[in-house]
Amino acid sequence: MSAKATLTYAGKTHELPVIIGSEDEHAIDIMKLRAGSGLITYDDGFGNTGSCAGGITYIDGENGILRYRGYPIEQLAEHSDFVEAAYLLIFGELPTQTEYQEFDDLLTDHMFIHESMRSQFESFPDDAPPMAILSAMINAAGCFEPALRAVEEKRFKESAARLISKTRTIAAASYRISQGLPMNYPRFDLPYTANFLHMMFGMPNKDWTPDPDLVRAIDQILLLHADHEQNCSTSTVRMVGSGMANLYASCAAGVCALWGPLHGGANVAVIDMLTRIHESGESLDSFIAKVKDKSSGIRLMGFGHRVYKNFDPRAKIIKASCDRVLDKLGIQDPLLELAKKLEDVALHDEYFIERKLYPNCDFYSGIIMRAANIPLNMFTVLFAIGRMPGWIANWHEVRNNPNGRIYRPRQVYTGPTERPYVPIEKRG
Ligand code: SDX
Repeated sequence: MSAKATLTYAGKTHELPVIIGSEDEHAIDIMKLRAGSGLITYDDGFGNTGSCAGGITYIDGENGILRYRGYPIEQLAEHSDFVEAAYLLIFGELPTQTEYQEFDDLLTDHMFIHESMRSQFESFPDDAPPMAILSAMINAAGCFEPALRAVEEKRFKESAARLISKTRTIAAASYRISQGLPMNYPRFDLPYTANFLHMMFGMPNKDWTPDPDLVRAIDQILLLHADHEQNCSTSTVRMVGSGMANLYASCAAGVCALWGPLHGGANVAVIDMLTRIHESGESLDSFIAKVKDKSSGIRLMGFGHRVYKNFDPRAKIIKASCDRVLDKLGIQDPLLELAKKLEDVALHDEYFIERKLYPNCDFYSGIIMRAANIPLNMFTVLFAIGRMPGWIANWHEVRNNPNGRIYRPRQVYTGPTERPYVPIEKRG
């Protein structure tokens, strides 16, 4: 079905096509607006701008819906695992048993990083932020990726598997080096997430296998973070990939975009916030009052979302997982109880209700990572490990777009109008 929109401005009327998505989203196609009218649109923060026609992940923010290639996140969280969700996001279909095994074997085949990279880890200061190391070492790993230079489509599956597998190894190595511990080699007998925890916490000459309940909970967190439409970091990967930059460079840029506390860094900010409240003994009412006072500059981290104006479905799943895992492991985390009370206070407060602020994926995820003894400065790294398949899928979608053009937004210029150059001796 084709539809049209009409724009009337300065006495002229312009007809614009409307594109309609598979979930009946209607979007005014402004690709030829400037040529036809001299007008551009303005949307600071891109809150109302569709940057692409994407077929990977669907979000309905009003109804709290999230689907990977059409599959509801609740069903994937219950029945799938991170490796399968990664395959689904990248290749578009749930794998057959054979396809799953082949992809999992690729992940195993490529789980080691080049031995010469080990010394590069040692060049970072002990307190180097793991996100800085991750971004740098993903690009370093790319230097050993034979397909990288040609970015061959026929080797894309191998490249995708290599990057997903090595990201986990690089992340664990950055932690071990920062602790002055020997790097653990991956094991051939452990699946993806258990292997990551082994590389993080295993000790030489000590038989240790991660707790299966924790493995399942961490694997589910990776799955829940695997993709999320055109968020800040995914849009960054698409932007960089649109310029024909290679897969590793584009995803390394995604790591940097994810880092900030308003995006992937929020899971760290949530734990910092809960810890401050817990240790200070401040009442929740007092803290919420500060949040509502804009001059305080304090936000309820882990709450709010640009798209979800209802519950983030991932938050519900992670909250339930918190209860299940901590109960199973007999862990009493005061921050979990505090988070639940804070959520309850906020959800009954007009400030949050009228602004449609609900818990997002970051509000509870840190509780599970604490239960797994993941250090705070590694929380966002786990988010990046989880998001890697989504970044790869989006990079591939940009690169395979037949109308593919480099991403190049315009602006409304608000700087100085033309003025003549002033020699330095005549200034000031
Ligand atoms: C992620 O985009 C994605 O999909 C991201 C993500 C993904 O999977 O990739 O889902 C992952 O990044 C989740 C979000 C993690 N960030 C946080 O938890 C940080 C805290 N939340 C916010 O800072 C904020 O809610 C954002 C950044 C998430 C969204 O910001 P918006 O859409 O720009 O909203 P806004 O800043 O315009 O806020 C609208 C109003 C404002 O009040 P008014 O000016 O209307 O009076 O809501 C207020 C804001 O002050 N507000 C908050 C708040 N978030 C918004 N007030 C207190 N606490 C908050 N957390």
